[in-house]
Amino acid sequence: MSEVIVELKNITKRFGSFLANDNLSLSIKKGEIHALLGENGAGKSTLMNILYGLVSPTSGEIFLHGKKVEIKNSLQAISLGIGMVHQHFMLIETFTVTENIVLGRETSRYGLLLDLPQAEHAIQKISAEFGPAVNPRAKISEISVGMQQRVEIIKALYHQAEILILDEPTAVLTPLEIEEFGKIIKRLSSLGKTIIIITHKLKEIKALADRCTIICKGKLVDTVEVAQTSEQELAYKMVGRKVEFKFNKTPPSSQKKILSLQNIVALNKRGLPALQNLSIELYTGEILGIAGIDGNGQSELAEILTGLRAIESGKIEKNGEDITNKSPANLFLKKISSIPEDRQKRGLVLDFSVAENMILQTHHLPPFSRLGFLQKDQIEKHALQLIERFDVRPPQADGLTSALSGGNQQKVIIARELSHDPDILIAVQPTRGLDVGAIEYVHRALIALRSQGKAILLISLELDEIINLSDKIAVIFDGKIVANMDALDADEKKIGLLMAGGSLHA
Ligand SMILES: Nc1ncnc2c1ncn2[C@@H]1O[C@H](COP(=O)(O)OP(=O)(O)OP(=O)(O)O)[C@@H](O)[C@H]1O
Ligand SMILES: [Mg+2]
Repeated sequence: MSEVIVELKNITKRFGSFLANDNLSLSIKKGEIHALLGENGAGKSTLMNILYGLVSPTSGEIFLHGKKVEIKNSLQAISLGIGMVHQHFMLIETFTVTENIVLGRETSRYGLLLDLPQAEHAIQKISAEFGPAVNPRAKISEISVGMQQRVEIIKALYHQAEILILDEPTAVLTPLEIEEFGKIIKRLSSLGKTIIIITHKLKEIKALADRCTIICKGKLVDTVEVAQTSEQELAYKMVGRKVEFKFNKTPPSSQKKILSLQNIVALNKRGLPALQNLSIELYTGEILGIAGIDGNGQSELAEILTGLRAIESGKIEKNGEDITNKSPANLFLKKISSIPEDRQKRGLVLDFSVAENMILQTHHLPPFSRLGFLQKDQIEKHALQLIERFDVRPPQADGLTSALSGGNQQKVIIARELSHDPDILIAVQPTRGLDVGAIEYVHRALIALRSQGKAILLISLELDEIINLSDKIAVIFDGKIVANMDALDADEKKIGLLMAGGSLHA
């Protein structure tokens, strides 16, 4: 397993004056699972986009099987045996699985003679090798995110990829899907495929990878043998300091009921029951974690609390005041803030600057607006303060939000929402896609908010996060709360069982 299959030599990439990749060199061995680790904005996606021909390097060289290559676009990368599954999938929702997979093959010598039945057959054959089969005729919009990812992987294999790049493949998967995914990756590796995987999850690196390369601010830090390192050491290398994975919290003080949801019934976007008689009570000074498998009503729960979805029946009260079916603006005035599930669709306007995104709900208020005029200086000052406090990189108030890395986009939302000094924070997947250093930061921020006596409803698919942060845990299954417990009595096994609809007294 010692043959070097890919060699990146002295890769540098500048975006304007910003150095995203700074003289990076890296070699990947044939058949290995090689992890790329680095803080948000470290330049991981950029480096892999260069290998896949999507971004052209400012300088540097790429060698494949010892031969120098120039990869000008992704079609060329595919023809060289490189496949990539992106951080945000690139499938067309209204097309079938097969149509998506054969797309991009138009340049093959068969030209327009696309033989769909034969393609379907080939896809079935590839998919059968890797666990639950994908239906080649299903529309992308009809299949789960986990299945969509499998389609992306099958697509790469269909195009004969020998080297597979996976950019944060598990960020969007449920715990069960992550397990399946791990098996697929191991199997591919045993078949001789070379895998490069970008991930923020140290546990996953330990479980899957042979070697790990750590990048910091565009520069190479080290390449290590995973078996000979620990999660702590990996975190230390990437962040340059010790990272706390667990916090000691003082017991909650001033406990007063601040939010109550009584017998809530709500429908999902397809008009089917999503919340079925759900009741929750939230107290000041506590974090209530909602644990559950994706799709059991979490999104709708967040939506009814932020005014994005009306309930059919039931009652929502804040401090005894009825706030059922109030508008988002109204709930904002009631000091309920939220970190939304989908940062790009709901949390940010990507075409706006960072400074503009930081005043989305408050732009019409002083000091940002006076006599109907936006106060540019004040807006910029406000943004720069938040950028510093939340370590948004690069630290520019006037840069477009779309140019930030995923993790830094998330920091912009969190900075904005916490700056409103909310009584209640609805935090949905607040650390999705964040690096361990940033996760530690966000967790600290949430705990600090709690210590000020504020109430936090934490909705997360990450069990570790729920168990580490929460004072109380409620398990949601099929639109109902099926268990309530003190976090001190909780463990992963117990909650996992309840999340899957099981019972503790079977
Ligand atoms: N097209 C672009 N124009 C300007 N800057 C860019 C562009 N693409 C990336 N950058 C910048 O380059 C840096 C590296 O981005 P990249 O997406 O490679 O980070 P990453 O390591 O993948 O981070 P994350 O873990 O958050 O996904 C970021 O600071 C980003 O803002
Ligand atoms: Mg990235």
